[in-house]
This record gives sequence, C-alpha cells and structure tokens, in this order.
Amino acid sequence: MSLDSHAWWQTGIIYQIYPRSFMDSDGDGTGDLPGIISKLDYLQWLGIEGVWVSPFFRSPMADFGYDVSDYCDIEPVFGTMDDFDRLVSEAHERGLKIILDFVPNHTSEQHSWFLESASSRDNPRRDWYIWRDAKANGDPPNNWVSHFGGIAWEWHKPTQQYYLHSFLKEQPDLNWRNPDVVEAMLGALRFWLERGVDGFRVDVMWETIKDEQLRDNPPNPRYEEGKTHPYFKVLPLYNHDQPEIHEIIGEMRRLFEKYPGDRVLIGEIYLPIDRLVTYYGTNGDGAHMPFNFQLILQKWEARRLATMIDQYEAALPPHGWPNWVLGNHDRERIASRVGRAQARVAAMLLLTLRGTPTIYYGEELGMEDVEIPPERVVDPPQAYGIGRDPERTPMQWTSGPGAGFTTGDPWLPIATDFARYNVESEKADETSFLALHKRLIELRQSEPALQVGSYEPITTEGDVLAYEREYKGERFVIALNLGSGPEMAVVEGLSGTVGVSTHMDRAGEAVDGELELRGDEGVVVRVT
Ligand code: NOJ
Repeated sequence: MSLDSHAWWQTGIIYQIYPRSFMDSDGDGTGDLPGIISKLDYLQWLGIEGVWVSPFFRSPMADFGYDVSDYCDIEPVFGTMDDFDRLVSEAHERGLKIILDFVPNHTSEQHSWFLESASSRDNPRRDWYIWRDAKANGDPPNNWVSHFGGIAWEWHKPTQQYYLHSFLKEQPDLNWRNPDVVEAMLGALRFWLERGVDGFRVDVMWETIKDEQLRDNPPNPRYEEGKTHPYFKVLPLYNHDQPEIHEIIGEMRRLFEKYPGDRVLIGEIYLPIDRLVTYYGTNGDGAHMPFNFQLILQKWEARRLATMIDQYEAALPPHGWPNWVLGNHDRERIASRVGRAQARVAAMLLLTLRGTPTIYYGEELGMEDVEIPPERVVDPPQAYGIGRDPERTPMQWTSGPGAGFTTGDPWLPIATDFARYNVESEKADETSFLALHKRLIELRQSEPALQVGSYEPITTEGDVLAYEREYKGERFVIALNLGSGPEMAVVEGLSGTVGVSTHMDRAGEAVDGELELRGDEGVVVRVT
C-alpha cells in the first residue's frame, strides 16, 4: 500500500544487504550482485521496499569496501556494471528500490586521487586530502584519534608530512573544504543517480568535514583505560558535527532533487538526539533520514526506551520523518544482544514504531553473532575493539550445504545453528522468526495507522512498554514486555482483539482493559 501524501521511503521498509554475505552466485564464497538479483523474489515476498546495499565499488578491501578506489566502477568479486544495471531494473520490476552506500569521508589509499596527492607536495591534488607538517618535535599535527584505534595521522616519509585518516591508514580522509573534491564527489553521486538508483546511505556523514584549524580535541574526563572505547580518549569536538557539514548535505540534497522519483538521502550519524535532528536541515536542504541508532545505543529497558522514544518524537522538526534502526554491519546482532526470545519483541517494536524501519539482513531469521575462530578473523582486528566479523556471516537460506549461500568455502564461517534458522525451514514453520516478521510487515504495510499514523505513549510500569498508533480513527495498541517474567499491561479503556503476538498464538483473542503478557511477549491489539 502506498499513501499518496507520503514518499516510498516513508511508507516502505528498508532492508540492508551486506553484499559479501547475502548470496554467492559463482561459488567463490563471497556474495555478489547476481546473487542479490536471484533473491529479489524473496525480498519482495518479505514485503520490504528499499534495498540498501553496502559498498560493492572498486576496493582493495582493507575495510571490506568502505575503502573505495573508484566510486564509479564495481569490484569484480561482486560482478559487472551489467549486473548492476540488471539489479536496478529487476528490482524496479518488483516494486523494490535500490539504495547505494556513499563513502565521502575517505577514499582508499589506492584511489588514483590519493596516489597523485601523495606523489609530491606540489601535485595539483595535494590539497584533496588533509596533509600537515609534523610538530617541531616530530609529533602528529594534533591529538585526534582514529575510530579503529591509535592516532589518526600517518607519517608519509616520501613527502615528509602527515595525512589524516579517521579510520584505517589505508583510508585517507578527503578534504571537503576543497571545492574540486566536492565537485568530484557530487559527480560520483550523479553517476549512479543517472543509472537509476533510488537513493544513498551516506557513510559517517557527520564527520565528513573537519575543523578548519584542526584544533586539538579536549581530553575526555570520563575516559577509563580499558573500559571506554579508545576513540573517546578525547572528545571529538573538532573532527565531527562541524557547522559546515550542513552546506555539503545541502549540495547533495539539491542534486537529488534534480532527479524524479523521490531519491532518498540517508545519513549514518551517531550523535545524541538533539544534534542528530539538526541533520534534517531546514526547508528541504537536509538529509531525508538521519539514521536514528537509539535502539542500538540505549540500554534495553522499558522505561529507558519509552523516555528515549518520547525525546526523539519531541525533537523531530515538523518536516522530519522518523526512522529506526535495530542493527547493522558494525554492531552486535539484536538476537545476541537481548537474546532470541526478546529479539522477537524488538522486531515488533521496530515494525510498529512511527517511522521507517531498517532491517539488517538475517535479523528476520533470528540470526545471532557467530563466534569466529582466531585464524578466520578478517575484519581489521582493532576495529571497535572487537572486530565486526560475527555480525557479517553468510545469510542462511537453507539447511543444505553452505546454508544455500555458497557452493564453495564461505568467506566467513556459517552459524552452527543454520539448519534451524534459515529461510527455507522458517518459511515452513508458522511460529518462526521469519513468520513473525512476515506477519508484522504485512500488518504494517496494510494498515495506515501502523505505517504513517500518529504515535502516543501509554503510561505503564515495570518491564512493559506500550503505545498507541492512530490514523483516521483506526487505532492499534502495542504492548511489549521487555522482561522475561510475566507482566500485566493495564491500558485504561482498551478494548479490542489481538492482531499478532510475538508467540504467534493469540490472534483474535478479545482484550478488555488489561492484557496479560508472558515473558518476552509483545502484542499488537486492534482497538475496536
Ligand atoms: C561506517 C561503516 O558503517 C563502517 O563499516 C566503516 O568501517 C566505517 N564507516 C568507515 O567507512
């Protein structure tokens, strides 16, 4: 269903594909574009609409594609430009949209721009990256820290200067204060927009431009060695969330507006709510959806989540469409974080809140993080202190060899419980994770109240989180038990019938005033 007054990215659900891990069509153990094409029918069946594909551009893979060496070409392991064109047309034939990943903060050190920039101090592209002299004592120009640990500067012996890298040293930061960089990068966006992509998710959007004077960050008074993530040794005051970022986002947005069909601009932004919402901009010059990671960042507790949702709802500007993310390729999977039983409640929350939900591939199956034996670790090990391989393992399609993902050796190990948690088996089980997702998605997509209706919190106690969604008199009450013991949700004046329970067994049950919830149970009640 699509409501006329809303864009597709407001009514539709987004699904994130990590392309190395979704479907391997040629038996080399790594997922690819033809593999994705072969699973579009599945995505259509599931009922999602926007397919966000993490980077598949030319890359030496130091950071598995987030180190791009050519923004306008495809890394052969993923396929060809013909495959890409086919992906777009086949997706569109099925009513699906394709969202690409744009990595503006840095390139690969193998990008021809960086090779030129590094070739000499007077190369015309020198200023495309952030080069500085050492301090008099040889120290780096400032105290900024890389997200992947250690100082964010690398000494370049041949030209006797440091360059900035907010991530790996193989990922030098671009200088967005240089108009030629802005033009070249907008050109890359244009390239894909012309080829019919429906939008972009912009990597580390909030960090893309840095303080002009590259001032030292202040020390973090709450930093505790071994406890705090090394990145927060200093407070990232001067290397993120700079006022000038909004001009750049405005440029991107204006470019998008030139194309027909509601191309969506999504930003990866890890900031507190009050800062996050500034990325909506004013008057159509911001991101359509600054990704809201609060469900990932907050402690999984009913009262805390209730307060956070209210804060987020209250902070949104009038033109700001909300959105919710439960997991991604950088974070522990939700089923590992809160347990499989509670992950079903989390799915119900994600799919009934007001705003566009983003589902990370495999979450619809209840996939968990996979323990990676040391000899198979491939993510730069220092990343986020733990490495992100566990949440990037192959999608589980069947209970057969290679989980139906590959006929070869998978690039990362497959979960040991794949024979139970896979698309084929879960399709055949009416109570599975997949069945729950399918049911919730169907309900959301057929009920305007759930899709675009208002959100009203309902005051509850203990482990219960409850709220109401309403559109033109159609009302749903959602009551979620975030604990593992039984709870009673008392909702004044409530009368209706259960639409879905996370336990998949109460549909049609009459509800009057109060609702008994089993441990780890959530229900959607249609109010009558
Ligand atoms: C955020 C991406 O999600 C992550 O996977 C990547 O390593 C960094 N940005 C650097 O591009």
